[in-house]
Amino acid sequence: MTEKRENWGSKLGLILAMAGNAVGLGNFWRYPYQAAKNGGGAFMIPYFGALILMGIPLMFVEWNLGRFGGKYGHGSLGPMVYLQAREGVSPKAAAIIGGLAGAIALGVTVLVNSYYNHIIGWTIGYAYLSLTGGYMDAAKSTGEVFVNYIQSPGLVFTFWLIALVILGLAVSGGIQRGIETMAKFMMPTIYVFGVILIIRTLTLGSPVNPDWSPIAGLNYIWSPRWDALNWTAALAAAGQIFFTLSLGMGIICNYASYLKPDDDIVLSGLATVALNELAEVVLGGTIAIPIAYTFLGEAGLGAGVGFSFISLPNIFRAMAGGPIFGAFWFLLLAFAGITSAVAMYNYVVSLLEESFGFSKKKASLAVFLLYILVGLPVCLEPILTKTADLAYLTEVDNWVGVYLLVVLGAIEVIVAGWLMGNKAKDEMNNGSYWKVPDWFFKLFIQFLTPVSIIVLLVMSTRDYLKAGYFKMVPDFVAGTPVLVPWVQAGRFVVLAVLVIGFFQAYKTIKDKYQVELESGQVSIRK
Ligand code: PHE
Repeated sequence: MTEKRENWGSKLGLILAMAGNAVGLGNFWRYPYQAAKNGGGAFMIPYFGALILMGIPLMFVEWNLGRFGGKYGHGSLGPMVYLQAREGVSPKAAAIIGGLAGAIALGVTVLVNSYYNHIIGWTIGYAYLSLTGGYMDAAKSTGEVFVNYIQSPGLVFTFWLIALVILGLAVSGGIQRGIETMAKFMMPTIYVFGVILIIRTLTLGSPVNPDWSPIAGLNYIWSPRWDALNWTAALAAAGQIFFTLSLGMGIICNYASYLKPDDDIVLSGLATVALNELAEVVLGGTIAIPIAYTFLGEAGLGAGVGFSFISLPNIFRAMAGGPIFGAFWFLLLAFAGITSAVAMYNYVVSLLEESFGFSKKKASLAVFLLYILVGLPVCLEPILTKTADLAYLTEVDNWVGVYLLVVLGAIEVIVAGWLMGNKAKDEMNNGSYWKVPDWFFKLFIQFLTPVSIIVLLVMSTRDYLKAGYFKMVPDFVAGTPVLVPWVQAGRFVVLAVLVIGFFQAYKTIKDKYQVELESGQVSIRK
């Protein structure tokens, strides 16, 4: 790789892009629900515990992997992991570890986006419907409106394609002119819309029931309910930390690969975490749940698809200024989603550039078509089966959106902490304003973080077994036979992308580091 690697244009742009990567739908619809369900204020204990034990250390590890790999011209995870793993094991073994890491990263970036892009499409569609009164007609329930939406090819395809075109243009525009410019516009807008929505939320009063008010809603999510604090809550908290910080996906590493070799890591990594937590705990925690509580009480709280697209529209119907605030809400979700999805899109593009020598334009077009292909089953399921369970999406998400993130996180921290060892600490500290102290590296990155991620992995596996996700016909579709093939298709696709990802990553490593694999000696250094 002789040509110069792209770089971020400014510190501000880099931090906003990294924050854009992390701040996503996870902050606004996944977090509030997890907190409300798992003990309210008491959830904050495992949540902050996981942030300190896993989130922050892994953030440093991923920036370190990425910047180091970028120095050798890599933007994808396989070679990045290889380069650090070879310091502790033979190059051949390192290539296999790299292959596994590359497989998971490709699985996540191709398949999480396969449904995430749709959800972004829905949010753009709903922002449009908010402004045009599309769900305001009280004759139809908001549930019917949503089912009608996801079963209407015209609506689904139009807004999905709009989302994909925005993403494709940003990625093909390049790191500075595309991704960075977009983040500089969308990220501040998210915080401004968030504050506007908080003010609106807190001034709602008690229009439906004297016991229901925004403050009562805040009370509900913030008062500690200690009895809800158990293993399930701890797993939910740790899973949320992975998802919301975009860890175990390969996309923080990919963005970090565009740093210059002595750009700061430690402070910038912390700034990313801080901006994400501000958006999550403050904005995410203060908007959706109190609004829902004010209009619907405790029974109205929920998450994900149903909550954002069915419960909240109901409220925008009733609320003064509903169409405008509805549009703010859905645009906030759209911007949060776009600035995250663009990181996944860029990962796959940079992989095609580095492994197959594609130009950026050609790679962006190829990934555009790929996302259409892998997105089809997500949107065809409700259209063809006339159901609204989204079983394909659920199955794919269970694996690539939750479980495999933890597996990849475990690989990364073991490679950096144990195989690369002290050299990883020096790499993190090189050029950093604040240094990772020796005790922190030893205590966290070499001990507490890997141990807690491994415990998390074991406990999650147990939970998955209990929930029946490993069965031939998982419990959640056992009662709906039409959905079974969709779940099986989801599994097949996940497996296929993982297998392709493994061989692709292994081959890229082999092509570039053949001499090392043959001689068993590390000889290529920059
Ligand atoms: N951190 C992101 C979020 O909270 C995770 C993500 C990134 C999801 C990219 C999808 C695509 O939503």
